[in-house]
Amino acid sequence: MQIRRQAPVSLRTRKRPDMPAPIPSTQVFIPDSAPFTELQRAWLNGFIAGILGAERAQAGSGAAVTLPATLAPAAGEGDVPWHDPTLPLTERMAMAAGRPLPQRLMAAMGQLDCGQCGYQCDSYATAIATGAETDLGKCVPGGRTTAKALKLLVVERAAGVPAEVHAPAVARTVERGYGREAPVQARLVSATPLCAGDAEKDARHVVLDIAGTDLRYAPGDSLGIWPQNNPDEVELLLAILKAKGSEAVTLADGGVISARDALTRECSLREPSQALYALLEAEATDAVDRARLAKLAADDAQAEALGVHDVLDALIEFSSARPRIGDFVAALGRMQPRLYSIASSQRKHPSEVHLTVSVLRYEHNERAYQGAGSSFLGLHLAPRRPVSLFVQRAHAFALPADPSAAVIMIGPGTGIAPFRAFLQERDVAGASGRNWLFFGNQRRAHDFLYREELEELASRRVLTRMDLAFSRDQTSKVYVQHRMLEAAPELWRWLANGALVYVCGDAKRMAGDVDLALRQVAIAEGGMDTAAARRYLAELAKAGRYQRDVY
Ligand SMILES: Cc1cc2nc3c(=O)[nH]c(=O)nc-3n(C[C@H](O)[C@H](O)[C@H](O)COP(=O)(O)OP(=O)(O)OC[C@H]3O[C@@H](n4cnc5c(N)ncnc54)[C@H](O)[C@@H]3O)c2cc1C
Ligand SMILES: NC(=O)c1ccc[n+]([C@@H]2O[C@H](COP(=O)([O-])OP(=O)(O)OC[C@H]3O[C@@H](n4cnc5c(N)ncnc54)[C@H](OP(=O)(O)O)[C@@H]3O)[C@@H](O)[C@H]2O)c1
Repeated sequence: MQIRRQAPVSLRTRKRPDMPAPIPSTQVFIPDSAPFTELQRAWLNGFIAGILGAERAQAGSGAAVTLPATLAPAAGEGDVPWHDPTLPLTERMAMAAGRPLPQRLMAAMGQLDCGQCGYQCDSYATAIATGAETDLGKCVPGGRTTAKALKLLVVERAAGVPAEVHAPAVARTVERGYGREAPVQARLVSATPLCAGDAEKDARHVVLDIAGTDLRYAPGDSLGIWPQNNPDEVELLLAILKAKGSEAVTLADGGVISARDALTRECSLREPSQALYALLEAEATDAVDRARLAKLAADDAQAEALGVHDVLDALIEFSSARPRIGDFVAALGRMQPRLYSIASSQRKHPSEVHLTVSVLRYEHNERAYQGAGSSFLGLHLAPRRPVSLFVQRAHAFALPADPSAAVIMIGPGTGIAPFRAFLQERDVAGASGRNWLFFGNQRRAHDFLYREELEELASRRVLTRMDLAFSRDQTSKVYVQHRMLEAAPELWRWLANGALVYVCGDAKRMAGDVDLALRQVAIAEGGMDTAAARRYLAELAKAGRYQRDVY
């Protein structure tokens, strides 16, 4: 079902109500949400203001400073209509066209405000616009398309703004265990299959031991994982390059480690960087390889057409290019952390974190690929082995403070994860509020994740109601939104009585379709027209009663 997307609802972007109001954007360059200390933010603001000749900003006159269009900060949440992960990048970029550079940079981000990059979408954009951040590959949800769009926009910045404007990188302070820069070490307990043997999907229940880390998490938070690449792939790359793996290599930050450790932990082995193509071009002994690599180094848009999907493909395709291992490592992109919604309540599991991880496997150009993070957790990490992780606190995805409030949870596939945490928390706390779950997956016999637990919670009435949509158990697709529409009168009664609605899982299709279904319920049961239904949902979101954690 294709729908026209509407303005975003609470997508982890709205700050907790107790947070201070944002500083007016006309007087600051680095927003409150940027991951700097107050001192660093003040310094950066002063630095940029000074460079731009905006002395009045520092004189404390309170007078508004007019920024050059290219450096004005990203606007507040209400003024960023592209801040919706269900919109395709081209549509988001079109919406931001003609806006100041930070806003166009922001429109290129994944729009999840997931914090994986160490920023929010707007503060990452502002940091790039000011030059405080030079790594354009940190937006994991946006992937390669985001990185490319950012690169094009940064070229524009370089053309329009004097180089001195680029602020130096500032060291950030992050509480240990609560950000990508400050992970703690935990250990894998187990990664148990959740789907039956012949299922098409491979979801794993991952249990991590966090005893001794002092980590605290709340239902709704996510866990950031620093993955390690598939050891077989690392050995294959070393063999192709005739390297031992023990060679000392220098990383971008100046650190010196072994080539094997660098390829395992520090480098991304997914899309080849343009720097890698340039290195291979310089090393290629075959003229045809050199010519093709020169094209890719200038513009890698044709990489897929040449069968180059990841780094290993590049070495296979261009067999005459065999750089030294140190140069090879230096030309690779940096590993990025992956986020997973936490699937446990710490009240029930004080020294563990549980995740629901869908192991990404796909075939492409007759080769099998695995996702780095999901296969690390689900397949390659052995029990008791260490893993670097951090808690990514949710901005606006949390159980209501009132234990008697009713909650409606819509979470197909791995979207069930935070709702397992919600249910455990409410069960342990003895919360009196009613709990309604909509869950869907491909087949009941194979993909009914946490079936026994959910049925047990339902038998004790902790789970008041559970509606299931197994999409491939019949000839036509049945999704969670179909179950919502079937239950529209009851759903409307719950909403009218103050229930909160939570949605988790796929951002691209499911979240928009569920949003549409909610509007249809408001129209059918609340007697609203389309515009009123939109306003109703927007108000619900504003009141914190419609929260989404989608990816
Ligand atoms: C806030 C948040 C919460 C999340 N919670 C969960 C969760 O609870 N459970 C969960 O499983 N995931 C969750 N995710 C997603 C998770 O972070 C990872 O994105 C996911 O595990 C895939 O990462 P990976 O490292 O395995 O794959 P990667 O190595 O990052 O590979 C992904 C890339 O592979 C490519 N690709 C994928 N499929 C194909 C294909 N068919 N053909 C060609 N190329 C393809 C695409 O380029 C894609 O970007 C969450 C994400 C966010 C932001
Ligand atoms: N970045 C990544 O590479 C990556 C990796 C893993 C997961 N994810 C994200 O996580 C999401 C969850 O993955 P998952 O494997 O657990 O489940 P999923 O792919 O979301 O599938 C769960 C259920 O939702 C159904 N569904 C498909 N389209 C829908 C729609 N428009 N509305 C409602 N339901 C719909 C599916 O049905 P059918 O399949 O039968 O259509 C299936 O029954 C993914 O969709 C993806 O966004 C991303």
